[in-house]
Amino acid sequence: MNVCIIGTGYVGLTTGTCLAFLGHKVTCVDSDEKKIALLQAGQTPIYEPFLAELMAEANGNLRFTTDYAEAVPDARVIFIAVGTPPSPNGSPDLRYLSAAARGIGEHFDGDFAVVVNKSTVPIGSGNWVGSLVRESYEQQHGCKAGQRFAVASNPEFLREGTALSDSLFADRVVVGSDDARALEALYTLYRPILDQTFNAPTFLPRPEGIGAVPLISTDLASAELIKYAANAFLALKISFINEIGHLAEKVGADIVQVAKGIGLDARIGTRFLQAGLGWGGSCFGKDTAALVATASEYGLSMPIVAAAREINFRQRERVIEKLLAELKILKGRTIGILGLAFKPNTDDLRDAPAVEIARKLIQRGCKVKVHDPVAMDRFRSEHGDLGVICCDSVDQVCVDSDALILATEWPQYRDLHWEQLASKMRSAIVLDARNALDRDRLIRSGFRFLTIAGLEGSSGLPVAENVLPVEAAGLLV
Ligand code: UDX
Repeated sequence: MNVCIIGTGYVGLTTGTCLAFLGHKVTCVDSDEKKIALLQAGQTPIYEPFLAELMAEANGNLRFTTDYAEAVPDARVIFIAVGTPPSPNGSPDLRYLSAAARGIGEHFDGDFAVVVNKSTVPIGSGNWVGSLVRESYEQQHGCKAGQRFAVASNPEFLREGTALSDSLFADRVVVGSDDARALEALYTLYRPILDQTFNAPTFLPRPEGIGAVPLISTDLASAELIKYAANAFLALKISFINEIGHLAEKVGADIVQVAKGIGLDARIGTRFLQAGLGWGGSCFGKDTAALVATASEYGLSMPIVAAAREINFRQRERVIEKLLAELKILKGRTIGILGLAFKPNTDDLRDAPAVEIARKLIQRGCKVKVHDPVAMDRFRSEHGDLGVICCDSVDQVCVDSDALILATEWPQYRDLHWEQLASKMRSAIVLDARNALDRDRLIRSGFRFLTIAGLEGSSGLPVAENVLPVEAAGLLV
């Protein structure tokens, strides 16, 4: 099928690459010339494991352009995958969506196309997009659009870091439309995924036991709501375990064991029960805010979703409270942060808890040193004005630090030479804000071990001279 994808962010690029790999003819459009030049050269503007490799495999079927006229006119399926960033009141900013819809109407030249909302859009946007497309078609062509366009919603459930396998080996595919032609076209498009008939790439082997992928074929509004409800449910699972984690800390229980103990009940499930700093990224915060905003337009409150958001904000604050309780005075302290990306295997810093914590610490007069295995370049370009010290190694972060925060659970942080690192710090304190480190090993290495949801402990050895730096000493007087 001839496919056009508008927007080359995580969703657009992953969708385009996977569909091209499956044999469709895909053209991706983006107004960002730099991004398109990079993609045309076979490079990726984002860090996503195996994306460049799959792009190379799909090569002949995958093109990139900044020009709608090269992508839209004869496409049969046109995906809109542009950003819908949050506006100050929580509702998504739909400027890019509306520009894409108008661009489609203006440039389409065929008999029939399905316009698919892949971006997470407010419920009801499908109809709105349809009317924008038709209106701009009629203005441009001077004739009625008639039955030329069908609109569908096809929400995306990929996670950054595992975007390709989440797409190729999906748990389910959801398509929604009030037009049977759209559902049929999307069924044909996704058939290789639904039936799992494609040869999996060597670097992304098909998971064992995966059978046919279920297709949920429904109406437009239901598909739109499925996306919000799925993200909100995952978000509240995380906030639930964080709330229980707070209690676990008070009663001396181990939240990791508690999560396992409840998660093995098949009705609950073990995934998304990792307690810690809570969620960040571009989706959960934005989508839960949008859900609450949409509900309020209908006079409804969403107390469960609102509480999940509240708990998530609180987790970040608890990091500061923990450090305050331990160090008593933060002004003048040097705090190291390990991990900046909102989660491992990505360089995405949108709503990353680490960045917010760094900002809070700086506001309190701390010197902050940071390290991330892949997100340093992006951090320098997006948050260069924050005033933190960017380090090339964990060693550098530790030298003369008063405490270390594990903010992103990159696997390589688990196996550091903790004994050596402890000796470099002014006081060997680690706050494992992701419950990812080997507590016993750190304690054996001489660390005072703190968490924001679970078991703490110390080595019994004196924490290296826990003295205040000279600048802050005045505050004690
Ligand atoms: C999410 C959804 O999972 C995906 O289906 C949707 O399409 C987009 O939003 P993503 O934001 O890429 O994907 O990452 P995800 O793996 O869901 O993690 C989101 C955040 O939750 C991260 O900050 C992660 O650290 C945190 N998280 C996740 C937890 O704190 N605990 C967990 O158990 C799982």
